[in-house]
Formats: sequence, structure tokens, C-alpha cells
Amino acid sequence: MCYLTNDNILFSNDAFGQHIASELMYNDLVDQAELFQEAIKYYANILTPFSALVDKKIKEVVALNVPVDMICPSHGIIWRKEPLQIVNQYVQWANSYAENQITIVYDSMWDGTRQMAEVIAKGIMEADQTIAVKLFNIARSDKNDVITEIFKSRAILVGSPTINKGVLSAVAAILKEIKGLRFQNKKAAAFGCYGWSGEAVKIISDKLEEGGFQLLNDGIREKWNPNTQAVGNCVRFGRDVALNLK
Ligand SMILES: Cc1cc2nc3c(=O)[nH]c(=O)nc-3n(C[C@H](O)[C@H](O)[C@H](O)COP(=O)(O)O)c2cc1C
Repeated sequence: MCYLTNDNILFSNDAFGQHIASELMYNDLVDQAELFQEAIKYYANILTPFSALVDKKIKEVVALNVPVDMICPSHGIIWRKEPLQIVNQYVQWANSYAENQITIVYDSMWDGTRQMAEVIAKGIMEADQTIAVKLFNIARSDKNDVITEIFKSRAILVGSPTINKGVLSAVAAILKEIKGLRFQNKKAAAFGCYGWSGEAVKIISDKLEEGGFQLLNDGIREKWNPNTQAVGNCVRFGRDVALNLK
């Protein structure tokens, strides 16, 4: 970072940025919800693995005890109104950030795993009405938006049917991404449909554990399209996940 004395401007380089461009340029002129959504998306997708360094660097900057009238990052909007608000926000994001949210990410060939995902979500919401549940078909969603929701979550549930003794490629890709980001202090579990050998749930669980997630359980797998009994199992699974997080 560079600090310009007299004008009191912090040129913060990558820190405090967002991937947006606006002719309005300044934080007080743009839509606040959009600005903070883009700021958290930037943090979640780019800075998560560096959270320990972010925390250390912010403490260093604060310890300099210099006046900051403006923060000019190298990407996005310039912070001129209460510029330290984004610094305070970064302190929170850098320290195992989580809202009261569970994100469910899945892919499916014949909708069985999609049904499981929806029924698990129902189970969670029955057990805890205060928790936000977000559901994504990862093959049809923006990867960076999904990573942002994972960043905001206390726990994630990842589902895939078994295909050729493995998982669907969109699920494999997001698991790789998740591992690289080294999220801290988050819980996870796996689910999915299968036909005969059913390796997917174990593969997903192992990948989540490698990615630093604490497993809530061994996961749940159901044969072919979920029947009434399987639907009941999934509701109970969702309920248990919610109760486990209380
Ligand atoms: C190309 C293909 C490969 C599959 N390979 C396996 C497999 O290796 N092991 C297994 O248990 N099931 C396998 N299955 C069965 C699926 O897991 C099963 O149909 C499951 O119910 C699909 O879930 P979905 O409705 O979420 O797509 C395979 C199915 C397809 C179409």
C-alpha cells in the first residue's frame, strides 16, 4: 500500500477492491447493496486464503495511526465516505466469517439428487426457522456467486449422484475451488443418489475434509430416485444438520 500525506489518501492496491466499474466512482454515490455484495464477492473469491495476512496487515495499518480521508483500491469504487467502514468490514471477513446460513450445492442427472437437496433444505428450515438456506445447482449457477454464499455460511452440504464411480464434473470442479480457498471454521456434509456402488458421498466427504471443513456426519446416499422412505430420511438428515449447528 502507499499513503499520501497531507491529502490523507491510502492507495490500497488489491485490498478493499471490487470487480465493478461505475462512472459515479465514489462509495457514497453508488448502490450500497451492490457495492457490498461486490466487495464480499471479491473478498470471498480472492482474499479468503490470505485471511491471516489480511488481519495482520490491517493491524499494521491501524497502528500507524494516520488520518485516512480516502481509500483508493486498484479495482472498483473509491471509498471517500467513512472510508474505514470497509477496513472494519475486512477485519470481520478475515476472522472465520459466517452468517447464520447453510448453503446447499449439488448437481444431478435425473433430478434425484436435486430432490434430495430440496427435501434436506425443508428439514433444515423445519428445525430452525432462523437459518437462511441457499440452494444451488452448481452446473447452472455462477461459480463466484456460489463461493460468496459458501463464504457466508456456517455449513455447506454438497451433493452429487455417483457416475462412473465418481462425482459429476461440476461438483468435482467446485470442490477443487473450495479446497484452494482454505475456508476456516466451517462445517460440511455430503449427499447424493446412486445406482449400485455409490462412491460419490464418500468422495465428496473426503474432499471437504481435505479442504479443511469439519464433517457433521458420514453423509446420506439414496438408491435411484428417492422414494417416500428416502424423502423421510432426507428430511431427518436436514433436521439433524440444523440441530447440530444450534
Ligand atoms: C453414465 C452413468 C454412470 C453411472 N455410474 C454409476 C456408478 O458408477 N455407480 C453407481 O452406484 N451408480 C451409477 N449410476 C447410477 C446413478 O447414480 C443413479 O441413476 C442416480 O439415481 C442418479 O441420480 P440423479 O437423479 O441425481 O442424477 C450411473 C448412471 C449413469 C447415467
